[in-house]
Amino acid sequence: MTDSGRHQPALRLTRVDLDALPSYVPGRSPADLARELGLPEAIKLASNEVPYGPLPGVVEAVTEAITTSHRYPDMGVVALRDALAQRYGVDADRIATGCGSVALAEHLVRATCLPGDEVLYSWRSFEAYPIIVATSGATSVRVPNDAGHGHDLAAMAAAVTDRTRVIFVCNPNNPTGTAVRRAELDRFLDAVPDDVLVVIDEAYREFVTDPEVPDGLDYLDRPNVAVLRTLSKAWGLAGLRMGWLVAQPVVAAAIRKVATPFSSSTAAQAGALAALTQAAEMERRCALVVAERDRVTEAMRKFVPEVPTSQANFVWLPLAERAVAFGKACESRGVIVRPFAGDGVRVTIGTPAENDAFLAAAEAALT
Ligand SMILES: Cc1ncc(COP(=O)(O)O)c(C=O)c1O
Repeated sequence: MTDSGRHQPALRLTRVDLDALPSYVPGRSPADLARELGLPEAIKLASNEVPYGPLPGVVEAVTEAITTSHRYPDMGVVALRDALAQRYGVDADRIATGCGSVALAEHLVRATCLPGDEVLYSWRSFEAYPIIVATSGATSVRVPNDAGHGHDLAAMAAAVTDRTRVIFVCNPNNPTGTAVRRAELDRFLDAVPDDVLVVIDEAYREFVTDPEVPDGLDYLDRPNVAVLRTLSKAWGLAGLRMGWLVAQPVVAAAIRKVATPFSSSTAAQAGALAALTQAAEMERRCALVVAERDRVTEAMRKFVPEVPTSQANFVWLPLAERAVAFGKACESRGVIVRPFAGDGVRVTIGTPAENDAFLAAAEAALT
């Protein structure tokens, strides 16, 4: 501010290249939309959350944990890493935790790439990848999805150069819900050079029902594989922020080194530990979501026959140029979905009543 209280002409204080970078788009607030439409509430099917609340015991564990919130959290995240190690049969020194798995994806790129190095991924995929890569000073190499909206692993293998440091395999893929199967992943991993880190991003692993879709943890014998998981989706902790990664110990140690200190909060660690004791309830809720996913897919195929089979907790509607208008039409009926302009719309699976409201809005929009 100047003495006269007016702002000086803008000085360039931040990186010029950020101007060209799209911002991460969070789902719209249902409270805002409800207010705008004069409705008691709106339905949010835009952020791939599970609609059934925190798992039993989580609220109590978090409430207890915040009585020590004047102290720093356990920076080693020892109890949680041990619990994860035990549940998933991996050594704790192979595990790193982060403020959501999106933070771990960022740490992975930060720990592997220097400016000009390449990060390869399928596109369209998780919208955080381009942001993470650009802000790390690395270069994105995007390989278009195949005609079925899934990864084209052969084309991805062919796109590897001597600058490629990391490849993200998003399985199932956000936002299209498609999943790569074992035989194609085996072939792909055989083709990728040993000094390129392949990150299998399994944020939606718990919703996979196709037995041919492999568990990334089965690939940990390969030193250049890392697996990303999260407690945000099936485990119901999106608001607490807790993701985890498994890689070979030297990679996990590098991730822990570049991570923001203390970013796994005391509350998140306690909530995650409590959630992990509720695996049966988590699986019951996932089964509800999966049944609804298949119902919504079938219902939507009457209007959009090319809806791909989803292995996640959302469904992709390849509406191309109609995507944004469809999103607006759903919002006008109190249902928030996630349009990607010119491409398609991602619809998160909610409760049966929420899905019914969506299907009614979709039918009205498309007929
Ligand atoms: C494919 C994928 N990976 C990672 C994440 C990050 O999730 P979180 O940071 O909540 O763990 C998401 C969230 O939408 C996702 O879709």
